[in-house]
Amino acid sequence: MPFPPAFLDELTARNPIEDVVGQYVTLTRKGSNLFGLCPFHSEKTGSFSVAPDKGIYYCFGCHKGGGVINFIMEIESLDYPDAVRFLAKRAGLEVPEDESYRSTYRRQERLWALCRDAARFFRSELFSPRGEEARAYIAKRALSQQTVVRFGLGFSPNEWSALLDAMTQKGYTRQELLDAGLVVKSQKGGIYDRFRNRLMFPIIDIRGNVIGFGGRVMDDSTPKYLNSPETIIFNKRKNLFALNIARKTKHPCIILTEGYMDAIALHQYGFDCAVASLGTSLTEEHANILAKYTQQVVLTYDGDEAGQNATQRAIPMLEKAGLQVKVLRMQGAKDPDEFLKKYGADRFSLLLDQSENQAEYRLESLRRKFDLTQDEQRVEFLRQAAELVATLSTAVEREVYGRRAAEAAGVSYEAMKLEADRAYRRRTAQAKKKQEAIDLAPARTLQPQIKGIRYDNLRSAMAEEGLLRTVLREPALMSAVPLRPDQFSSPLLGRVWAAFCAQRAQGQTPSLAPLAGELESGEMAHLSAVFQKPNTPVSDDALRDYIAIITEEYDRTHASGSEKLLALAARKKETKG
Ligand code: UTP
Ligand code: MN
Repeated sequence: MPFPPAFLDELTARNPIEDVVGQYVTLTRKGSNLFGLCPFHSEKTGSFSVAPDKGIYYCFGCHKGGGVINFIMEIESLDYPDAVRFLAKRAGLEVPEDESYRSTYRRQERLWALCRDAARFFRSELFSPRGEEARAYIAKRALSQQTVVRFGLGFSPNEWSALLDAMTQKGYTRQELLDAGLVVKSQKGGIYDRFRNRLMFPIIDIRGNVIGFGGRVMDDSTPKYLNSPETIIFNKRKNLFALNIARKTKHPCIILTEGYMDAIALHQYGFDCAVASLGTSLTEEHANILAKYTQQVVLTYDGDEAGQNATQRAIPMLEKAGLQVKVLRMQGAKDPDEFLKKYGADRFSLLLDQSENQAEYRLESLRRKFDLTQDEQRVEFLRQAAELVATLSTAVEREVYGRRAAEAAGVSYEAMKLEADRAYRRRTAQAKKKQEAIDLAPARTLQPQIKGIRYDNLRSAMAEEGLLRTVLREPALMSAVPLRPDQFSSPLLGRVWAAFCAQRAQGQTPSLAPLAGELESGEMAHLSAVFQKPNTPVSDDALRDYIAIITEEYDRTHASGSEKLLALAARKKETKG
């Protein structure tokens, strides 16, 4: 399954990390490292660093890091093998594919090609005599010619095998058509076109591949929309309609809508930052992908109950991904499409500017949960509102929303403030305690910043880190290290040492790149942090010290009871003397 190490060596050599990262981030040199604004979280001062000599990047803010392959995985949302292929293509290298990889990738490529050809077919049908009704529908929905072209809209004829025949003629197999979800098996075992007599919306991923379709009826029949099923190239949890266009927007936000038609209408009216989920609710994956392209998401779900519930669900998910969330509420129209047609782009712009931040939205939905004419419910509302107000970070916000809550409940602002202040003090006291715990435990800052990785033996781990840093800088020194991987107290660092030894045995220089395939992204990020630490003096002496500490700690923790006591006594003496 893994790619041959020699190939990965060549791959990383031909894709210098500063060049690859430089295509996404503006980097400035400071000493031997380069710095820039982190592409993975929003920041104003650059805490994102690239160390060309070590082939790694690391962000001191969000603790993301790794080698050039990790960078591509992260920024292009690719899995490991696809990131390798991406870089191979960039450097003009042939990928020595393992047979099973090759066959899945080939299958995917076939389906991408098939879906693209299908989209072309639907488009040509739209402009053929058969497409007259669809063209009339497009006109009725006031979609411009430019919009039709930009979104590659098409028409699936009212036949059982129009697409099937056209694609078979192009050389695609029945199985491929089934795999792409473009045809359906009949009970008799035959196959027929899934999409018939519908206006077709191709769904395009961020790399520009057509991966599926949505098809709308042109009258009131049901189902209104038919969508491609999940396939090996179409994952609804990870893709958003129109993100291929919206990712390049200059708008400071991304507008999230519920419907294809809403996203399309927004684009037509100049809001090229609109996307739509694919007939499913928003997922954590969606939120994380959005966070790569913007800092702020504006929710424009329908005003009905389903839409409001979807909004409530989406807010915490988006916030968890580090996004600022605003909620846009329309009056006089049920969705953005209708609003734009009724009131135009300027009015929508105005709404966008005034869109409520989530505090206002949450307060409002909280208010609607209670019957404020009932005393008990008012008390509970005030209690919950105070909690909410206490989460706001500025005093001005706390006052504004505190007053609003008080007004809604018909109590004095002073009473509300008392409650809110209490909640606020409780929160800050908790935060302070947390900070103190961090400040008072200096050893903890040596611990990995990545969740799930902890050093059991800090003294040894620090030496292990130093040793690995040293040999990465000076591979020739490796021959002077008599350690086995299992003598490392940290299993992760031990694995790195084992990998370095294996690479050396094959005549290669030690490198982190081949580890990208087998380690978790958090582990890779931690290793980047380790290798990014200031270079310890590279010397035989320093190396000898590291070896001595690692050996000593290993012997101490693996010694029998009496030996342990002796070793402890010896150490005590040492530190006293
Ligand atoms: P809407 O009914 O709000 O559709 O469904 P819309 O996009 O506003 O379309 P128009 O304006 O009526 O033409 C929102 C989304 O829910 C999914 C689709 O993704 C749609 O865009 N949906 C809806 C389905 O998947 N199937 C359906 O039958 C209905
Ligand atoms: Mn609509």
